[in-house]
Amino acid sequence: MSGPCEYLSLCQASEVAPGKAIKVEKDGLTLAVFNIDGEYFVTDDVCTHGPGSLSEGEIDGDVVECDFHNGSFNIRTGEVVAPPCMIPLKTYTARHEAGVIAILPV
Ligand code: FES
Repeated sequence: MSGPCEYLSLCQASEVAPGKAIKVEKDGLTLAVFNIDGEYFVTDDVCTHGPGSLSEGEIDGDVVECDFHNGSFNIRTGEVVAPPCMIPLKTYTARHEAGVIAILPV
């Protein structure tokens, strides 16, 4: 049965090393795919504070620091961890299946 929950494939899991992130552009979305100790998380790539690209940020555990003004977010929840960011980061439901990372693009 197919429903409204269509996953969008983003990349191979092997493209994202542990403790790293890559930027993926797909279907008009610009996303950051993170690997935290073998668990994959997907957020918007663009910082909610400005033009920073979070896939290029500094990752420390489950926190990413934007290298533009050093604001930071929790990668799992999108919550703001450090100012000047005020607005949480959008996160997506990620799936890791058969070596492919996919999201529900909602
Ligand atoms: S653009 Fe990311 S902290 Fe300002």
